[in-house]
Amino acid sequence: MSVNADEIKDIVFESKVADMKKAGVGPVIFPHKLHEQLYPCKGCHPKIFIEKKGVNEVTMQQNIDGKYCGAAGCHNSAEAFPLYLCDKCHTNTHEPLDQ
Ligand code: HEC
Ligand code: HEC
Repeated sequence: MSVNADEIKDIVFESKVADMKKAGVGPVIFPHKLHEQLYPCKGCHPKIFIEKKGVNEVTMQQNIDGKYCGAAGCHNSAEAFPLYLCDKCHTNTHEPLDQ
């Protein structure tokens, strides 16, 4: 692994900002560092998320179906806050955050 995980900052998910706006939520801020402290890298990479910013096409249906954020032991379980708490993941800006 060439990238030092200490260098990974919060990752913004906002490719679906238009759909999110319609649903009344804004871009998602994923705190990578916090998740590194809770789980080993291989807990997520590459099984749940390919380790490259922007390549994972996450939808709420997939989260609900047990993929990505909703994978076993994650936000579809008692281990973490549940998927219905939209604002824990989504900001309320309704506009793109990156640059
Ligand atoms: C809880 C899940 C989780 C854990 C644990 C985790 N990551 Fe990630 N990682 C992610 C997500 C989500 C992304 C963003 C993927 C995207 O944007 O589609 C990511 C992105 C990355 C990237 C790409 C960064 C970039 O700018 O392209 C690297 C490299 C990476 N992780 C390495 C690691 C390493 C090393 C560890 C362990 C120290 C680790 N990850 C632990 C979920 C995790
Ligand atoms: C555990 C974190 C998390 C929670 C909680 C969450 N989301 Fe999401 N949601 C995401 C991520 C990550 C994406 C991907 C965004 C992107 O790539 O642009 C997403 C995408 C979306 C999208 C666009 C894609 C699609 O599925 O249509 C909508 C709309 C959405 N979320 C609505 C909601 C609503 C409404 C709630 C609460 C009922 C919610 N989300 C709760 C993480 C979460």
